[in-house]
This record gives sequence, structure tokens and C-alpha cells, in this order.
Amino acid sequence: MGKVSTGLTMSLDGFIAGPNDGPGAPLGEGGERLFAWYSGGDTEYGLPGTEMVFEVSSQSAEMLREAHAGMGAFVTGRRTFDIANGWGGDPPLGVPTFVVTHTAPEEWVYEGSPFQFVTDGVEEAVERASAAAGDKGVAVGAASIAQQCIRAGILDEIHVDLVPVLLGDGVRLFEHLGAGPIDLRSTRVIEGAGVTHLTFRVVK
Ligand SMILES: NC(=O)c1ccc[n+]([C@@H]2O[C@H](COP(=O)([O-])OP(=O)(O)OC[C@H]3O[C@@H](n4cnc5c(N)ncnc54)[C@H](OP(=O)(O)O)[C@@H]3O)[C@@H](O)[C@H]2O)c1
Repeated sequence: MGKVSTGLTMSLDGFIAGPNDGPGAPLGEGGERLFAWYSGGDTEYGLPGTEMVFEVSSQSAEMLREAHAGMGAFVTGRRTFDIANGWGGDPPLGVPTFVVTHTAPEEWVYEGSPFQFVTDGVEEAVERASAAAGDKGVAVGAASIAQQCIRAGILDEIHVDLVPVLLGDGVRLFEHLGAGPIDLRSTRVIEGAGVTHLTFRVVK
């Protein structure tokens, strides 16, 4: 089974979105700064499964290429899905995508839908995603999903794209983690343009 990992962009004070996020402001007030690194370099990187092309540093492009190549499925939360408007039907990274929710949205539930909705919890979603991913890894996105994976002890790796900004408020990544401390081992640090890519293994 491949590893289960997060891959989120975070401000130095720990937020993955600013306050008042919603479809009109997907990363909240001021949160667009978080994704500035995707257009802050001189190397083009095409996001698999989409028509999106980023312009990042060569170091970031290499890191993204490697991370995305190892990713076989994606698990995210319903708020991210709604805020992103279901990515217009093109799941990010073009891999099987599982959305954790209490109620599946009728309009996206049909034979051949690009999304699978999981209403019986994060662990079940990760299990189904792992089966779909084969020997590749599972990426878990959004704060609430990452937190539940950490609490359940099923997260193997934390990857954070750390951006030098203090947002002050918003959606915090590392909270509601249950009893700590949780030990991590730093496995990689890559300096990009406007971002530092940090990878940690969760010590179990
Ligand atoms: N910076 C980055 O790299 C990055 C990446 C991705 C997303 N984001 C941002 O992160 C924010 C969203 O994160 P979030 O943590 O607030 O929300 P989220 O994880 O995307 O979604 C939370 C929702 O998922 C459903 N859910 C979660 N756990 C569940 C469970 N165990 N059982 C059933 N349903 C469950 C619930 O929705 P229902 O009750 O409605 O079903 C819950 O309200 C957005 O601002 C997004 O733009 C940032």
C-alpha cells in the first residue's frame, strides 16, 4: 500500500486559507497570497489532469512532478469541493477523487461521475482511495480531513508548502489533533521561489 500524505500550502502562522472563504474567495481574505508561488517562478509545470500551467522555480517543478507521479488517489472534504465548485468536473491531478461528506450532492451522483462521495467517514474514504491508488499514494487535502487522518493515526507524511506570510486568521491546519505530542521526522527541505517545501514523516 502506498503512503497517505498531505500536500497543502500554509502561511507561517499556520493557515491554509484566510477568513471568510467561499466560492467568491476560495482561499479567503488575503489567502490568494498562499498560491502566489504557483506563478512566481520561471519554469512551466502543467498540472496533471487539468489544463492548468503553473510557473514555478525549477526546484518546485521537480518537487511537484515527483509528488504528483506518486499520487494515485485524492481524498478531500466537502467544503473544499463546494468552494472549488467541483473543479468544474475535472478532479485535480486527474486521479480518482473521494469527497468526504454527510450528504452526497445529487447533481454529482451518477454512473461515471468523476467524484465518489463517502458518507461513512475519513478512514473509509482513505481505505477506498488506497484501493483505487494501487501501489501509489493517497493525497489527503483540506484541514479537517488532514486533522482526522492524524487523529486516526493513518497519516504517514506531512508535506507543507510554507509561504512567508502571516494571515492572522482563517482555516488553521494544525488544530483538533487530539492528545499530543505527535513526533515528526524532517525528511526534506526544498527552497523554491516564495515558498519552502517541507516534508515530514509521522513517527508511529
Ligand atoms: N492552502 C491549500 O493548499 C488548500 C488546499 C485545499 C483546500 N484549501 C482550503 O481549505 C478550506 C477548506 O478546508 P476545511 O478544513 O474548512 O474543510 P473541508 O475539509 O474541505 O470540508 C469539511 C467538510 O467536509 C465534510 N466532512 C469532513 N469530515 C467528515 C466526516 N468525518 N464525515 C462526514 N463529513 C465530513 C463536512 O461537510 P458536510 O457536513 O457539508 O458534508 C465538513 O464540513 C477552504 O478554504 C479551501 O479553499 C486550501
